[in-house]
Amino acid sequence: MISSSGWSKYNIWEHSASVRNLYDKRVRQEVDELICHKQAAGLLRPHVSVNDTVLDVGCGSGYFYHSLRGMSVEYFGIDSSDALLALGRSAMPQMCDRLLCMRIEDMIAKVDHIVCTNVLSNICNYHRPLERMLESAHKTVILRESISDVSTYSYVTDNYLDRPMRVHVNSYGREEVKAFIEEYGFSVSFHVDDYTGGKPQDVIGYPHHWTFVEAVRISGEVRC
Ligand SMILES: C[S@@+](CC[C@H](N)C(=O)[O-])C[C@H]1O[C@@H](n2cnc3c(N)ncnc32)[C@H](O)[C@@H]1O
Repeated sequence: MISSSGWSKYNIWEHSASVRNLYDKRVRQEVDELICHKQAAGLLRPHVSVNDTVLDVGCGSGYFYHSLRGMSVEYFGIDSSDALLALGRSAMPQMCDRLLCMRIEDMIAKVDHIVCTNVLSNICNYHRPLERMLESAHKTVILRESISDVSTYSYVTDNYLDRPMRVHVNSYGREEVKAFIEEYGFSVSFHVDDYTGGKPQDVIGYPHHWTFVEAVRISGEVRC
């Protein structure tokens, strides 16, 4: 009569065979590296020292690992979809115990850097998950999300999933996000997204205003 299985029932990332197939190909390097991952790695690189830890939040199957080539870092990924993580564990057995299933909201971590791309715009809001990241990163947080002049929130039907389901398509206000991140002791700069050139991209019929956020810790310690 009452059960706690609602998370997996309504988790859109567990309901797309085409996404699973694509994420499998990406982690096996059977398709080109994402331009946004190349850009994320480029933004991260100047902040990285040998043996630093990098946590990929909402990592899918963990294919951002490949974009870190040439950097002597320790990669970890978290994601709330075990089906996607399983693809990464199968393709990269050496990463088995570094691809961890959890929700961002439940995460307690202490790492040097966090990279989170294409995640927060499709969940109900950014505050709690972004707070977890800002409290977990010693040095930098790199985000790629839909950022615009003012925040807009919508809950729309995605007809590209295995069955139509409603999904969040949010865009977060630039100044609001900047002020929020600064509260946690970081300086903030925004970067035009290389893939879209700063133009809105239509995803499932709705515009996404992809923008990179580079947050660099200037004060405070990780609280976890
Ligand atoms: C669009 S994919 C992005 C994957 C990868 N970061 C990229 O840039 O290609 C969003 C990912 O976030 C994960 N995700 C969504 N909500 C989450 C949450 N609350 N906690 C952890 N992971 C979450 C999904 O399972 C999915 O793998």
